[in-house]
Amino acid sequence: MENLKTGVIKNRRDGLSYSYEMKQIGLEQLTQVQALHNEVIDSLPDADLCWRFPLDHLTRYLGEDGVTVGVFVAERLVGFRVLYFAGERDDNPGLDLGLAPEELAQVAHLPLSNVHPDYTGNGLQKTMTLYAVAIAEHMRPFYYLCSNVSPKNYPSMAEKFAIGMRVAALKVKYGAFWRYVFCRDMRQAWKVNEESALLVESEDCARQTELLAQGYCGVRLERSVAGTKIVFARRLPE
Ligand SMILES: CC(C)(COP(=O)(O)OP(=O)(O)OC[C@H]1O[C@@H](n2cnc3c(N)ncnc32)[C@H](O)[C@@H]1OP(=O)(O)O)[C@@H](O)C(=O)NCCC(=O)NCCS
Repeated sequence: MENLKTGVIKNRRDGLSYSYEMKQIGLEQLTQVQALHNEVIDSLPDADLCWRFPLDHLTRYLGEDGVTVGVFVAERLVGFRVLYFAGERDDNPGLDLGLAPEELAQVAHLPLSNVHPDYTGNGLQKTMTLYAVAIAEHMRPFYYLCSNVSPKNYPSMAEKFAIGMRVAALKVKYGAFWRYVFCRDMRQAWKVNEESALLVESEDCARQTELLAQGYCGVRLERSVAGTKIVFARRLPE
């Protein structure tokens, strides 16, 4: 597998295009990752969109149980995506899905991705995720790809659906914030009954919780001026 990917992205601030390099990063880049993370979090219009991860989490993510991909423009870090094997730790999203203890080692978690505000809109999050997943599959094959996403975070929800993930649960995380638990079974795509499909507003957590308890899952989103809606459909037995 190639250890470097290159491309061109547009900077929103000056409207110019820049070459970038995407590569796996580690603890040597901890200071740059933390600085970019703080800059992104400080610029958020709504604190609900992404939790400010403490230093010990970032350190774990950049260590041996993580696959973190960074994007550099002229050697400056402008984006990163973390994939992490949480194993038996309590931040394994497999616990929210009721996976058996022996299956927790088969979960690859996508806990965090950040793109500098000057470079959003280039689809970098998706490119970084696919790159991190490809590296991780090579390194430590897994059954489940999971991620927690705020129902208010349109770019992150859109990215998860685009890579074949589905809403499998909805939980309160980080003390007070609603988070979808997205999941994709890497061995076999979930089948759903399209005739059962119905639309729910992404911020209607009560209704979505009800549907999830009745065996529905979230399969795609629809966005209009009125807001973002999620299409839920009944899961069929495998
Ligand atoms: C979420 C994030 C990584 C996505 O960045 P990205 O890959 O550049 O996003 P995309 O290029 O896929 O953009 C998708 C759409 O969302 C819009 N968008 C992306 N980021 C946006 C932002 N921060 N604010 C408003 N709109 C944004 C894009 O313009 C695009 O709109 P379009 O579909 O109408 O063209 C980035 O916005 C970010 O770092 N956000 C703050 C931190 C965060 O929420 N991280 C994820 C949870 S940990």
